[in-house]
Amino acid sequence: MSIIFSEETKTFHLSNQLVSYVIAIEEDRYLAHHYWGKRLNKVMSGADYPRRDFSHFANPHHVDHREFSLGTLLQEFPGADVGDHREYAYKYTDEKGHHANQLVYKSHEIFKGKKELEGLPHTYVTDEAQAETLEILVEDSITGMEATLSYTIFEKQPVITRSVKFKNQGKETLHLNRALSMSVDFWNANYDLLQLPGAWSREREVVRSPLVRGIHKLDSKRGTTSHTYQPFIGLLDPNTTEQAGDAYGFQFVYSGEFVGHVEVDSFSQTRIQLGINPEHFEWTLKPEDTFQTPEAVMVYSDEGLNGMSQAYHKLYQNHLIRGEHQHKERPVLINNWEGTYFDFTEDKILEMAETASELGIELFVLDDGWFGKRDDDTTSLGDWFIDRAKLPNGLKKLSEAIHDKGMQFGLWFEPEMISEESELYKKHPDWAIHTPNRPLSRGRHQLVIDFSRKEVRENILAQMKKILDEVPIDYIKWDYNRNMTELTSGEMTHRYMLGLYEVMEELVTSYPNILFESCSGGGGRYDPSMLYYMPQTWTSDNTDAAQRLEIQYGTTMTMPVSSMGAHVSAVPNHQVNRITSLKMRGDVAMSGNLGYELDTTKLTNDEKETVKAQVEFYKKHRKLIQFGDFYRILSPYEGTNQTSWIFVSEDQSEALYSFFQIMDHANKPRPRLKLTGLDPNKVYQLSDGRVLGGDELMYRGIFLETDLVGDYQSDQIYLKELSES
Ligand code: DGJ
Repeated sequence: MSIIFSEETKTFHLSNQLVSYVIAIEEDRYLAHHYWGKRLNKVMSGADYPRRDFSHFANPHHVDHREFSLGTLLQEFPGADVGDHREYAYKYTDEKGHHANQLVYKSHEIFKGKKELEGLPHTYVTDEAQAETLEILVEDSITGMEATLSYTIFEKQPVITRSVKFKNQGKETLHLNRALSMSVDFWNANYDLLQLPGAWSREREVVRSPLVRGIHKLDSKRGTTSHTYQPFIGLLDPNTTEQAGDAYGFQFVYSGEFVGHVEVDSFSQTRIQLGINPEHFEWTLKPEDTFQTPEAVMVYSDEGLNGMSQAYHKLYQNHLIRGEHQHKERPVLINNWEGTYFDFTEDKILEMAETASELGIELFVLDDGWFGKRDDDTTSLGDWFIDRAKLPNGLKKLSEAIHDKGMQFGLWFEPEMISEESELYKKHPDWAIHTPNRPLSRGRHQLVIDFSRKEVRENILAQMKKILDEVPIDYIKWDYNRNMTELTSGEMTHRYMLGLYEVMEELVTSYPNILFESCSGGGGRYDPSMLYYMPQTWTSDNTDAAQRLEIQYGTTMTMPVSSMGAHVSAVPNHQVNRITSLKMRGDVAMSGNLGYELDTTKLTNDEKETVKAQVEFYKKHRKLIQFGDFYRILSPYEGTNQTSWIFVSEDQSEALYSFFQIMDHANKPRPRLKLTGLDPNKVYQLSDGRVLGGDELMYRGIFLETDLVGDYQSDQIYLKELSES
């Protein structure tokens, strides 16, 4: 891994054994994008913008010919209104409203390691040998605005992270109207665009389409990231498959309002950008003030979508997720939500816990409804004290009773919300996010409480800490069940996120033993930034095994398996009314962090035996599942009616292959299953008794021992290395 500046070619070359990223300085001032892809041994080419008269493109003031234009240059961080009419990466306005701006190269610094992004979630190193950073200082001598563009390349990983820090070095106040975190220009547009949009219960659908001329935008104007679009953009060679081909990924480490642009210009060049959505954003920079953007993570892999995904998984697992639970095997849990909803008593909870502990389940999670007077979703958010009507002996006693059964105890909170029917709202109606003189929109009968305000954060933290200091709690589910409305422009939405991050930082550092799982009506805020605080996320409220195949398939495009909550629920399924086999529900859920979300007391004896076996199997293999290399093989999006994936240990000595049949067909062709990720030189013992070479398993493929009969069936094969051949 190295970052080299060549005086001769005026290029910065960031490289490791997998990738190279090259920036050239054009005209002694402009940062041009030169190359990004497979590693180059050496960069011998320099700035080589093809000079010709691009009619109807402006020429900067310092050139006295028509052959140089910012409007066609491949730029690294383009400014506004100075000749590049494509999407710009930043814009600032002075007190007179002038906003033509261009930041040009001033100096640079190269150092080992990576700096922290204070107050923001970010990827980190634990040893400075793990990464190297380039900081390029760009300036605007007219206004005094400066920006430091940071690029970090990680060792042995095809990853580059980027962020920007603006500083007003001038004498007048400036207003940042747009401050994106990254911009990259590709010289061509021969790509497929990959995105992961969705909706509640349909998170992270895999949508792939060819790029076309124009501007494609993904964004959130909902206060936080939301179910609608994931802050992720993929750019793929049209021939790229799961296993081979070029794949570029861009993901934003931020849970607030974001924007992603994909612009194909008149010369079929492609610009990709990610950053804070300028829609509700403006930041005032007085002289000497700074503004730090969140971070964007860029991946390039020539090993297909799996190569891209694994780069994200490894980076997030080792350099984003923190704390005691980072590498710890995650417990099998039972959550009472779909089992009881709001309708539970202390006795019911204890009865469920008793049965669950007999099945080998390790953690009981008490979901919504334990506080205030919360018998439905119309009341009590903000009143984080025990509902004695439901839990007459209090939470401490309940937690102790559950611990006595040999299980851990977890609790649900929705700290960012307030119900109009709550004691907190009566005292502080103005704490809800609102626009004065405009009625409030409700979502699930609730309002969002303004975490940009210190007194709000302090109140909620104090309430939570009171419980956490009293009650033995091993796990917290942090929910967030609506989008923001009645937002005002300015600093509020970003300050909300900074406030949220501050509260989460305080909690995770004060209670390091607690395992946190974030949630937002399922996976509505399942973005990398949450993983910095909370290593797990509830993937979706949709627990139907068939639809979960799609949701989990899409989620693994960037998110590590260890972060993905997946539960077995009752049938008919509560979201889609479908009946699937318990086997398939188990196999799907154990492809993430296995949990159960049903009334365990209602299971038949046969079902209990099956669940017990599932839990036992999972515990045996969970290290491989949660922390192994994950490869998608057959996509549920491709109409084959089948899905498959495999977990492979880092040393390729063991693997777990899962195959799912969605709809059955009479007299169907037998699928030959080609495994992946194995060592072709190793021989494997399969759990069904067969012994086969890694090469045979991957190149020739195998049939299932027995055909699956019926809809929604599945099978798993565990493979263990026998010996080196
Ligand atoms: C939405 C979550 O996604 C569910 O799992 C559950 O916790 C409910 N909220 C409770 O209100």
